[in-house]
Amino acid sequence: MAKLEIKHLNKTYNPKVVPVKDLSLTVEDGEFLTLLGPSGCGKSTTLRLIAGLEQPTRGDVVIGPDVVTHKSAGDRDIAMVFQSYALYPHMNVYDNIASGLKLRKMSSTDIQQRVAEASRVLNLDDLMRRKPGQLSGGQRQRVALGRALVRNPAVFLLDEPLSNLDALLREQVRAELKQLFEKQNAPVVYVTHDQTEAMTLSSKVAVLYQGDLQQLDPPQQIYSRPANQFVAGFIGSPQMNLLTLRCENQSAILGETRIPLPSSAVSPREIVLGIRPEHTRLTTPGDSTTITGQVYLVENLGMSNLLSIKVQGGEETIRALLPTDQTWSGETISVALPSNQLHWFDVQSQMRLE
Ligand SMILES: Nc1ncnc2c1ncn2[C@@H]1O[C@H](COP(=O)(O)OP(=O)(O)O)[C@@H](O)[C@H]1O
Ligand SMILES: [Mg+2]
Repeated sequence: MAKLEIKHLNKTYNPKVVPVKDLSLTVEDGEFLTLLGPSGCGKSTTLRLIAGLEQPTRGDVVIGPDVVTHKSAGDRDIAMVFQSYALYPHMNVYDNIASGLKLRKMSSTDIQQRVAEASRVLNLDDLMRRKPGQLSGGQRQRVALGRALVRNPAVFLLDEPLSNLDALLREQVRAELKQLFEKQNAPVVYVTHDQTEAMTLSSKVAVLYQGDLQQLDPPQQIYSRPANQFVAGFIGSPQMNLLTLRCENQSAILGETRIPLPSSAVSPREIVLGIRPEHTRLTTPGDSTTITGQVYLVENLGMSNLLSIKVQGGEETIRALLPTDQTWSGETISVALPSNQLHWFDVQSQMRLE
């Protein structure tokens, strides 16, 4: 088993297109790292650089003790799973899974054994003689996974492997993937734009935006302590409220409410306050920070109502997520903003303030 390191990786297509700027990451054995970010932020390019399908402009890829930057893809002992599955249409499931092993001149008894093991784990036993055209999307993706698993590679790379599946199936295969990779010891790098996949599968998440690493942390940390305003807005659904507020005497002014600033914000004129909709709640006596406002929209999400509230005495609106069994009367509502759930960001740098 071998850890994967990428060091100061840069890919410049032309002066205006630099999808990977200066990326350094380490993925240890057994770690599941997700590259998460919006479309076009450089995720696939990073994966292709690791796989050797592209050459970096600068920087290195290291697997175990070996610098593999200038090795061809075939010599890197990496297995990759693509969104498009990339199966051979004329081969049946067995041969598709076995294809990588045959290329490596493995004995046929070993091949049979490994394919049987993967097919059992992935529930493919009844499908071995079918061609890809006779399989559903979920089954095809399981075959593609099987082909990667039997290789027993030094590193697994997966590029949006679930995004061609419909929502229900995606949830199911996601759970299967999690169980599958918990049993693997090799480093896994997984690419997705879907925050739920990143949160549920990963031991660590690297949030990327415009070719730059924004934050690298375990999923819970990314959610509870976003490093900057981009991460705060990108992670979490419904999205975090992010309000640019005027400040006076070390307090931020939100409508008729004054909220004490963190000590690291030294007399700013403006500041950005973040609060997740799910962290607001109906006010109870004794709450220190509450706001009052008019409810102008209620969206029923089943388990909870998403309220859009126009803050009284201000221009801001806040979205609050309340369990459906919590009711309020009339159009006016008071909600608490618990102080331990407030996030503060510098207006200029957009970085988190403590
Ligand atoms: N071969 C290429 N030539 C020029 N630009 C490219 C090439 N491949 C990708 N890009 C650009 O690099 C950026 C990042 O692409 P990509 O890594 O595929 O993003 P993601 O996977 O995060 O959606 C995009 O703006 C894309 O248009
Ligand atoms: Mg991509």
